[in-house]
Amino acid sequence: MPHLQHDETWKKLHTHIDEWVAGSKTHTKEGHVASYIPELANASGNILGFCIMDHAGQTITSGDSEFRFTLQSISKVFSLILALMDNGEEVVFSKVGMEPTGDDFNSMLKLELIEPGIPFNPLINAGAIAISSLIGGNTPDEQIDRILHFFRDIADNPALDINQNVFKSESDTAHRNRSLAYFLKDNGVLDKEVDEVLRVYFSHCSVEVNCTDLARMALVLAHNGVDPIRKQRLIPRRFVQITKTFMFTCGMYNASGEFAMNVGLPAKSGVSGSILTMVPGQYGIGVVGPALNRKGNSTAGVHLLGMLSQEFDWSLF
Ligand code: DON
Repeated sequence: MPHLQHDETWKKLHTHIDEWVAGSKTHTKEGHVASYIPELANASGNILGFCIMDHAGQTITSGDSEFRFTLQSISKVFSLILALMDNGEEVVFSKVGMEPTGDDFNSMLKLELIEPGIPFNPLINAGAIAISSLIGGNTPDEQIDRILHFFRDIADNPALDINQNVFKSESDTAHRNRSLAYFLKDNGVLDKEVDEVLRVYFSHCSVEVNCTDLARMALVLAHNGVDPIRKQRLIPRRFVQITKTFMFTCGMYNASGEFAMNVGLPAKSGVSGSILTMVPGQYGIGVVGPALNRKGNSTAGVHLLGMLSQEFDWSLF
């Protein structure tokens, strides 16, 4: 199917989005809400929310688009950008690699197996923990402030904040992330103390948003770091290029190949059931559906994006 003009796309979305979202919502039954962070288990499994935003800031929302959730792994995209802005490429890539793992997002397998023991990429937990240590600031509080300030700027929403219940819930139960961080410390990847680095990491994972915030943040990436609404460059183009490449190859963890095949867009998922994606040069998209598949991605969210990509021929290939 040929690409539609913006006006036609918008009209078709307006007409059909509620029926498409309702259709995809049936797939929530195939998944389970994450419970390894106890607070996340409170989310209802049959939620599906959607928002798309165009270059002028017009939005189309559908389903449970007002539902609030925490960024979780989606925050890794923006902490990576901040670490690149604060340190440059050379420093960042001395601490993390550039390759997908094929393993689960919280795996520690390759940290021991493969020299030099740095995380394979910045979007797996080990990599994102290493990235958290690189955010500018002399103390964890300063680093967290810097992250919040940056996230609020990208989302154009000064009200974004940390959900303290989710932060505490993760902090109290993150035995696996703690062991990953100690492993990294032992391998010489972390220059700071484990507890300090984890506090920064859990904080950015716990920033609370809705689908419209996600779409707004994605819009800046879709336009290569320029906010098309405020007409302002927020991120250097090269750092967006690096980040979108990681989103494409590792953003949906070890389901990134399947997602690339079926949707064909750079994306990042979080265990809250959220997905941030974009149509490059055009739209920012935010989706949330807390019921997850085995690989930690929203069952209904992935279904909806596959359908939309097909309908509008959005795949990059
Ligand atoms: O570190 C964790 O396990 C969570 N804060 C984030 C993991 C996550 O979102 C993985 N997503 N699919």
